[in-house]
Amino acid sequence: MLRPVITPDAAAFPDMFGAYLHIPFCASKCDYCAFATWTDRHHLTEAYLGALGTEIKRAVANGMPAADTVFVGGGTPTLVPPEQLAAVIALIPKLPDAEVTVECNPDDVTPEMLRAFVDGGVNRVSIGVQSMSAHVLEALGRTHDRENVVRAVEAAFWACRRSTSTSSTGPQESRSATGKRPSRAH
Ligand SMILES: C[S@@+](CC[C@H](N)C(=O)[O-])C[C@H]1O[C@@H](n2cnc3c(N)ncnc32)[C@H](O)[C@@H]1O
Ligand code: SF4
Repeated sequence: MLRPVITPDAAAFPDMFGAYLHIPFCASKCDYCAFATWTDRHHLTEAYLGALGTEIKRAVANGMPAADTVFVGGGTPTLVPPEQLAAVIALIPKLPDAEVTVECNPDDVTPEMLRAFVDGGVNRVSIGVQSMSAHVLEALGRTHDRENVVRAVEAAFWACRRSTSTSSTGPQESRSATGKRPSRAH
């Protein structure tokens, strides 16, 4: 259940409220990661996003304050349909200058995905880059490589440009960091 958690820090900043949404789906499990994620439950994506929406509406009805930060983490938020994720994020009451972040796996990011996020009010991404060294990435069991990271950052750049300038045009090609359409969890 979504409810405000009051910590000593929160008591010191009573006007601040952050909402965290967890997306528990991953394409594969990294050895070092202890987050609550599953690789075999993609069929639950729609139901899970629907349940998140229900929880948010219930929390709002119970007086949840407007958030000054929203963080969508995982798991892998970039594995679920971006428009559906943006629709869930839109249900959260936010202060006008709220920081809204989505954690992105470099493997999945496309310009279209980031545009959908921007259209949904996302103004910050956290791109999971452990290293730009192939041997380190291999040792960690990461599925992305240096090129994926560059493409993901470029896509973020163009999404930012689009959100601040109507005359900007993005990359002509639509492709994920792996060079192909990302696999979607349904
Ligand atoms: C939780 S993941 C979410 C985004 C996406 N699943 C990904 O891996 O890029 C966000 C970041 O946390 C990192 N992470 C996970 N477990 C960690 C750990 N035990 N220590 C340090 N970073 C960790 C991941 O490698 C990733 O860069
Ligand atoms: S993809 Fe991200 S969330 Fe999933 S297991 Fe790896 S580090 Fe953890």
